[in-house]
Amino acid sequence: MSRELERIIEGLSRPQKMISPKYFYDERGSRLFEKITALPEYYLTDAELEIMREHVHEMAALIGKTASLIEFGSGSSLKTRILLENLDDLAAYVPVDISESHLWASAQQIRKEFPHLDILPVVADFTRPFALPTPTIMPVRNVVYFPGSTIGNFEKNTAIELLRVMYEEAGENGALLIGVDLQKDADIIDRAYNDSAGVTAEFNLNMLRHLNRSYGANFDLESFAHRASYDESKGRVVIELISQANQSFKIGNREFTIAEGETIITEYSQKYTLNGFAEMAADAGFAVARVWTDAEEFFSVHYYTRL
Ligand code: AVJ
Repeated sequence: MSRELERIIEGLSRPQKMISPKYFYDERGSRLFEKITALPEYYLTDAELEIMREHVHEMAALIGKTASLIEFGSGSSLKTRILLENLDDLAAYVPVDISESHLWASAQQIRKEFPHLDILPVVADFTRPFALPTPTIMPVRNVVYFPGSTIGNFEKNTAIELLRVMYEEAGENGALLIGVDLQKDADIIDRAYNDSAGVTAEFNLNMLRHLNRSYGANFDLESFAHRASYDESKGRVVIELISQANQSFKIGNREFTIAEGETIITEYSQKYTLNGFAEMAADAGFAVARVWTDAEEFFSVHYYTRL
């Protein structure tokens, strides 16, 4: 049995069933996520784009000339393009992603748009240390880029571990540019994860379809429903699939039962305070150099250097 399947089974064997949010992103899931980012309720993308557009020159000045930009994730987003268009003489752009096909496709697209850029994609699980390629031009500094508040998918200890990996990959003289979603009015957050068009529900349920197709599971998609709720005391959204009946399902050679009303957690989406996030980053060795927010203070982008 594959390591991956073992992990999925381990998560489903816990008293509170869980599946990692990375299983959202098969091809259909990636397309559904793109659709989410265009929803009127999903403020995150608009707010982060506003920050990038407004402050990219200041970001470029902090990053300086001849840096290597290392993106954690495949780098297909508009935010990345805004950065690439405005950074001076990048030594290299290094997108890092576990999905090889996704990575090649987006690297090829970026090559077309930036023909003079040294693009060096790395297939790796970025939650663990990985080797960086050596650009033709020696970079002045490595800048790790992690947009989208994807850091919020990780529980606190794991998030700090991931920030430590970023610290190592940034190296001496390195920096981190990271998108961080902020705590705000609960209704605004609730709506972002319970959109009226039902795209987030489809995105959530698509995980089961993905597991059926690629991991030999037999979930009945009709008998699960989407639920997302913001826990204000923890500052985080919990996204779940709630079973509509007492039922069983199998994956690999394992059979599970799930009661009516019981849930499988598919994602946490942590929202932060500016100080709370800076403290976490400090635990990983980073010092805040600059923080930008959008006009409504919904979202933030932080620039850190090594302490
Ligand atoms: C990609 C992790 C930033 O938490 O908002 C969107 C994923 N899940 N709607 C988020 C997501 C449901 C998203 N991140």
